[in-house]
Amino acid sequence: MVENLLKEKKGIIFGALNDKSIAWKVAEKAHEQGAEFILSNTDVAIRMGTINELAEKTGSLVVGADATSSEDIKKLFEKTLENFNGKIDFVLHSIGMSPNVRKGIPYTDINYPNFIKTLDISALSFHKILQIAYHMDAINEWGSVVALTYVAAQRTLAGYNDMGDAKALLESIGRSFGYVYGRNHKVRINTVSQSPTPTTAGSGVSGIDSLLDFSERMSPLGNATAAEAADYIILLFSDLTRKVTMQNLYHDGGFSSMGMSQRAIEQYQKSFEDCD
Ligand SMILES: NC(=O)c1ccc[n+]([C@@H]2O[C@H](COP(=O)([O-])OP(=O)(O)OC[C@H]3O[C@@H](n4cnc5c(N)ncnc54)[C@H](O)[C@@H]3O)[C@@H](O)[C@H]2O)c1
Repeated sequence: MVENLLKEKKGIIFGALNDKSIAWKVAEKAHEQGAEFILSNTDVAIRMGTINELAEKTGSLVVGADATSSEDIKKLFEKTLENFNGKIDFVLHSIGMSPNVRKGIPYTDINYPNFIKTLDISALSFHKILQIAYHMDAINEWGSVVALTYVAAQRTLAGYNDMGDAKALLESIGRSFGYVYGRNHKVRINTVSQSPTPTTAGSGVSGIDSLLDFSERMSPLGNATAAEAADYIILLFSDLTRKVTMQNLYHDGGFSSMGMSQRAIEQYQKSFEDCD
């Protein structure tokens, strides 16, 4: 096992709600690999979740910020630079929420103020974080920014609703900002497209149990866990991936390249037998 991949690296990790969160696993592994970081989430999530336990475990500060508020993000970056007495090296955007999904409103009937909230929380927040980091020149050269996404940006998956649109926008922001940030400051920006994962956000998607089972059967390597996503993201924060930027990187056991698998066919076949 490699050690100290993130030695002397500093960062901000957005989105750890509880120990199921992908961001939680990233924070644990980043700590194991020698990084120091600030943990951020909304004030409500800090109160309702267990982020303070993670902070204690990893010796981190928790700073509340609503990622849709440029003012909050600016204050968070100011506090972070002050705390570390200098610039940072990595940022994790692990933020997503759709009021339409949460309320079970079908895609054909979505409520537009909700849709705008979905886009603001799940995609524009990424641009806001990058914009503030860029103008404050808050990230060191060869720094790395990663956001979590899902294959529903490229392929339609029933039940994912307006989050598919939000993820398409998120990935596009990663490419557009990745060009400018790379050219001007040598900062890399990538999105990691993760398997369905049983977290609080994941559980909000309708039919999540069937989706987990389907993608498990479809993926030659099986679904990737949150801990495995964290391993991959640590690699992307490390100096081993300095020339990887503007990519949407699939971390899904091969799901995104599949059309149909033997295991899925066999399960599907059973439904015909049940009808006989
Ligand atoms: N769970 C899955 O199946 C799955 C699959 C692929 C990608 N993802 C993505 O991974 C990321 C992390 O989700 P997760 O699965 O770990 O679930 P999670 O519920 O643990 O994390 C989502 C986080 O977003 C935060 N958040 C919501 N609104 C916010 C706001 N306005 N400002 C700041 N933070 C806010 C929540 O408080 C929470 O901590 C999301 O972008 C999600 O879409 C999840």
